[in-house]
Amino acid sequence: MSVKNITVIGSGTMGNGIAHVCAQHGYSVSLVDIAQIALDKAVLTITKNLDRQVQRNAITEAVKIQTLGNIKTFTSVRDCAPTADLVIEAASENFNIKEKIFRELDEICAPHCILASNTSSISITRIAAATKRADKVIGMHFMNPVPVMKLIEVIRGYATSDTTTQIVFEVSKALTKIPVEVNDYPGFVANRILMPMINESIYSLYEGVAGVEEIDTVMKLGMAHPMGPLQLADFIGLDVCLAILKVLHEGFGNPKYAPCPLLVNMVTAGYLGVKSGEGFYKHEAGSKELIVSTMFLKK
Ligand code: CAA
Repeated sequence: MSVKNITVIGSGTMGNGIAHVCAQHGYSVSLVDIAQIALDKAVLTITKNLDRQVQRNAITEAVKIQTLGNIKTFTSVRDCAPTADLVIEAASENFNIKEKIFRELDEICAPHCILASNTSSISITRIAAATKRADKVIGMHFMNPVPVMKLIEVIRGYATSDTTTQIVFEVSKALTKIPVEVNDYPGFVANRILMPMINESIYSLYEGVAGVEEIDTVMKLGMAHPMGPLQLADFIGLDVCLAILKVLHEGFGNPKYAPCPLLVNMVTAGYLGVKSGEGFYKHEAGSKELIVSTMFLKK
């Protein structure tokens, strides 16, 4: 089976990034969201990111125009998914929402269509159980920012077939990404390793071992990480980090994954990082300057 038409569900940060790379590499992309306003915002973001690539000579103006021409937007999955060869779901990280989407996709998609989820932590096996095609359900975990990051963590559910995995590998390579196959256990590999590191850095702050900038500087300069773990947590979203840690904690029943109380407090108070304007740092739109949140300045 050769994949030509891809439907991407959800036009947020991950969804618009996935639509961007699929369209840039010649796939015909249907981008779906509930509200047209969200879709218009996504197309604007994709255009800005393509402009950035043109400015840096990563792509030509012609590729930009072609990419935008490969994307159509829809407010109903029923208007596009029936002709899809591959659906990539990047909706909210909530099992009930995903279960409803996959049940509907299973009803309306062609029998050959592969159903992938960009989930960062929800079990693929559990999502697949909402369908009658568990062999064609798989995880395609892209990393943010999608146009830049090379990895796709390909997650095999309990019943995912070799053929499905092979097709998803081929598509990932056509997107010039590097697919890595992993099995379906809590946090897969990326977040099973990343989230405990972020949680430990929050514990280091909470216990007064060091300040925000000091912790991030140790990891940036000492381990050559492009961002410190606290800055990265702000970038991912503190609510997302908390949700993934809860999946690890519940999934393994091991106290080593218990979220730091400081993280729980910050999320409860609405300090979610970049998306809310403040987390460990203050984030002003358009500014790249790192300003530590006044909450963590030494008194
Ligand atoms: N679209 C297109 N290009 C983009 C882009 C976007 N959204 N964002 C950045 N870029 C490009 C820039 O144009 C630039 O290109 P060149 O190298 O050709 O000049 C390059 O990326 C670097 O960008 P900047 O110079 O603006 O900024 P930077 O050097 O600080 O890099 C970064 C930014 C790539 C985000 C870097 O800080 C980084 O790698 N951070 C860590 C990202 C990371 O860990 N992501 C994974 C998060 S975890 C996750 O996603 C999964 C999960 O489940 C939680």
